[in-house]
Amino acid sequence: MPVITTIDDLRRMHKRRAPKMFYDYAESGSWTEQTFRENTSDFDLIRLRQRVAVDMSNRTTTSQMIGQDVAMPVALAPVGLTGMQCADGEIKAAKAAEKFGVPFTLSTMSICSIEDVAEHTSTPFWFQLYVMQDEEFVDNIIARAKNAGCSALVLTLDLQILGQRHKDLKNGLTAPPKLTIPTMINLATKWRWGLGMLQTKRRSFGNIVGHAKGVGDTSSLSSWTAEQFDLQLDWAKIAKLKEKWGGKLILKGILDVEDAKKAVEIGADAIIVSNHGGRQLDGALSAIRMLPSIVAAVGDKIEVHMDSGIRSGQDVLKALALGAKGTYIGRAFIYGLGAMGEEGVTKALEVIHKELDITMALCGRRDVQTLDRDVLLVPKNFEGEWA
Ligand SMILES: Cc1cc2nc3c(=O)[nH]c(=O)nc-3n(C[C@H](O)[C@H](O)[C@H](O)COP(=O)(O)O)c2cc1C
Repeated sequence: MPVITTIDDLRRMHKRRAPKMFYDYAESGSWTEQTFRENTSDFDLIRLRQRVAVDMSNRTTTSQMIGQDVAMPVALAPVGLTGMQCADGEIKAAKAAEKFGVPFTLSTMSICSIEDVAEHTSTPFWFQLYVMQDEEFVDNIIARAKNAGCSALVLTLDLQILGQRHKDLKNGLTAPPKLTIPTMINLATKWRWGLGMLQTKRRSFGNIVGHAKGVGDTSSLSSWTAEQFDLQLDWAKIAKLKEKWGGKLILKGILDVEDAKKAVEIGADAIIVSNHGGRQLDGALSAIRMLPSIVAAVGDKIEVHMDSGIRSGQDVLKALALGAKGTYIGRAFIYGLGAMGEEGVTKALEVIHKELDITMALCGRRDVQTLDRDVLLVPKNFEGEWA
């Protein structure tokens, strides 16, 4: 067993162990991938202030996200097809998150259903909703999330139409994979993945198959999205959904100050500053670059979270120091899952926790909740002057 010390170690193992179409699905952004690349490279532009001779005993990374205690302010982001990276992937990731003490968010486009995850965990998880045209389906899935005891609804606003990722089209991405000759040749080298898949019944979209009427091809994410997602989603509809849900509401995919202000107006509990990990609007600015202006505009009125580009505990520290109250990891935990299942997700969380804790200490801080811009060296024009 190789010694794993970074999230990139897990990524390389994920690449070796998962079928190409699923690794590529995770490891890509839309069109030229500029936003996908800048989400990570912009974190690297921010440097840290080394401080010395400060008591660094009794450190803590515990915090709260939407009033919920967390071992560190890092939740698992909703990721579609997680159960294709590794058999029963959502259940495994949710268990790892539960044991670690961080929130798990289940995607609408998951392989394991809401009920599957609830059955295998005892801590309430969060449910991410994509709004469909079929109102009955939406009402029904909200009711299912409530019945399963989900403690927050994460409403994703930046994917009513799918950003194009070239590799998904070229690989013919489906769940389960269609057995074409190139796919079969590739699967022949992924015996560990194949064995897991043979032992589970969960191989299609668990929240959708058997619950949605009149659906064409449920195996294809792109055709389902094109047929079913509600292109008319607007703030009035979001307000209605908030009422229907009646619990904690997190709005995901906010990247603009004006939209952040609207989220405050409708009374959401939190927003996630996010560009969907660079998978939607290519050419949008990185989430970390947009974070400071959004925090300045609404940070005293709503809890601001962020994701997109986090690959280390240092990235988490930078986001917190720029005003985020919580962060999410997408690919960082998916690499762990594709590499080693539940153990790999735990490993990803451990790597990030250790990096966060040690970085905090070397910056002269003991409590993650006191991190502020003082621990950073931010380039003068980091946010940029855009007209
Ligand atoms: C493979 C993959 C699938 C995703 N599926 C969903 C999804 O179903 N729902 C959603 O709201 N966001 C989805 N996202 C976006 C993530 O929730 C999150 O915003 C993103 O991964 C953060 O960027 P990072 O991967 O750089 O951490 C997905 C991201 C990836 C990488």
